[in-house]
Amino acid sequence: MTPLVIYGAGGLGREIAPVVKAMGLPEIKGFCDDYIPKGTIIQGLHVLGGFEVLANAKDQLNVVVAIGNPNTKKSVVEKLSHLDFIKFPSIIHPSAIVMNKRSVKLGMGAVVGAGSILTTDINVGSFVLININTTVGHDCTIGDFSSIMPGCNISGQVQISESVLIGAGVSIRNGIKVGAQSVVGMGSVVVQDVDSGSVVVGVPARQKKSNN
Ligand SMILES: CC(C)(COP(=O)(O)OP(=O)(O)OC[C@H]1O[C@@H](n2cnc3c(N)ncnc32)[C@H](O)[C@@H]1OP(=O)(O)O)[C@@H](O)C(=O)NCCC(=O)NCCS
Repeated sequence: MTPLVIYGAGGLGREIAPVVKAMGLPEIKGFCDDYIPKGTIIQGLHVLGGFEVLANAKDQLNVVVAIGNPNTKKSVVEKLSHLDFIKFPSIIHPSAIVMNKRSVKLGMGAVVGAGSILTTDINVGSFVLININTTVGHDCTIGDFSSIMPGCNISGQVQISESVLIGAGVSIRNGIKVGAQSVVGMGSVVVQDVDSGSVVVGVPARQKKSNN
């Protein structure tokens, strides 16, 4: 069986490792992290080193990218994508519920945390994180690299573009479009479309400043 490495040994990596274990996937070989010293032991697993560990690997590897910031996640994935022996499985905690499995697509490298519920006709892009206890309603799309933090309620027909960060506890009204590279602050209630590259916060969510 192809071994699995978790890229990112920070808080999110420590949250994702138990998801991988709960799925009964092949043994986790360890973490890969560019900032945490090689040899550090986390949840009984070693930090094997930084990017070079993967770049120098010879055999097939499954990699789960455990990085919440969409832009950082995207740049790491772009580097890893040149390594054709690496595959990116999608990861879904056994307690997450996908109500109509045939109509819900999970892109490669997507992660769905414990207790989240996806109803029907949903398109989840590649490397999307849907963290714990989030609901995603009918006919939603979530663009590549976007990260949805814990406890969000995303109503039906919401379109979230690429590389969006949705903070913890956000609610989004049905039919809303959230533009690429935008940030929705934690606890916000989104009742209007969100412009690309903007930061919105509050109840109701209003633009705070440019995200550039
Ligand atoms: C929106 C966000 C990105 C802004 O971060 P920031 O640019 O560092 O903003 P600051 O903390 O400097 O705050 C700037 C102002 O915005 C306000 N603000 C920040 N986040 C807010 C939020 N979520 N709701 C309402 N107001 C918010 C602050 O009160 C402050 O107001 P002031 O200028 O009147 O004092 C951040 O607060 C946020 O919500 N991030 C998501 C966090 C999250 O979900 N983490 C989950 C981890 S699992």
